[in-house]
Amino acid sequence: MEELRVNEYNLKDIYTIEAGNFVTAGEASSNIKTLLKRLGVNSSKLRNIAIASYEAEINLVIHSKGGQMELLVSPNEVIIKIDDIGPGIENIELAMKEGYSTAPDSIRVMGFGAGMGLSNMRNNADDFKIESKLGEGTHICMKFNI
Ligand SMILES: Nc1ncnc2c1ncn2[C@@H]1O[C@H](COP(=O)(O)OP(=O)(O)O)[C@@H](O)[C@H]1O
Ligand SMILES: [Mg+2]
Repeated sequence: MEELRVNEYNLKDIYTIEAGNFVTAGEASSNIKTLLKRLGVNSSKLRNIAIASYEAEINLVIHSKGGQMELLVSPNEVIIKIDDIGPGIENIELAMKEGYSTAPDSIRVMGFGAGMGLSNMRNNADDFKIESKLGEGTHICMKFNI
């Protein structure tokens, strides 16, 4: 197959994330990684994007009622927008703290709930924005310079 080049394509993709589904959990971020690798994104940036998108996806599976991840690729940046339909985050500053997690034991025994997801997203993205409304949902936008 012909090599795809980031600077020749503008690309948009949407992935639906199902709450509580640990069988499909991680598929969206895995697909994003495969796609961006094919587009020629370098391995260090690819790692940043893979970590951040995986954490975002897992948060939707664990903490939300479901939602979607949108991937936008332009010549200079990758944008990942995450929108879910609740329950929202009451205190974002607290939720962002490393080690803070409301995940119950049933989730922790599966290896999730270390409380590092949001800080990992912020640290791996070149730009990170989060908005949340209790009872409504959470919106995250991450930008990566490529
Ligand atoms: N999409 C979301 N919807 C509701 N709450 C969330 C969402 N993402 C994160 N949170 C809250 O923020 C906390 C910290 O998230 P994170 O840093 O990813 O740690 P973890 O997922 O391991 O608990 C979560 O425990 C949860 O209370
Ligand atoms: Mg998390």
